[in-house]
Amino acid sequence: MKASVDPDRCRGHGICWSICPEVFDLTDDGYAEVLLPEVPAEHQEAVREAQGSCPERAITVS
Ligand code: F3S
Repeated sequence: MKASVDPDRCRGHGICWSICPEVFDLTDDGYAEVLLPEVPAEHQEAVREAQGSCPERAITVS
């Protein structure tokens, strides 16, 4: 599984980071960045939850 964040959509809500800080981090500006674009199996469920929880639908999982 791969995860990415669309920087044009992210508004810095931070929900992704609160759900799965192993994969998502927040930059100094408060926007999401992906630490592990190739998501390890143990974090895939949390990444899907983060994807569904982002109000801006900024997270893509493939
Ligand atoms: Fe951005 Fe959505 Fe996370 S707006 S900080 S990708 S919850």
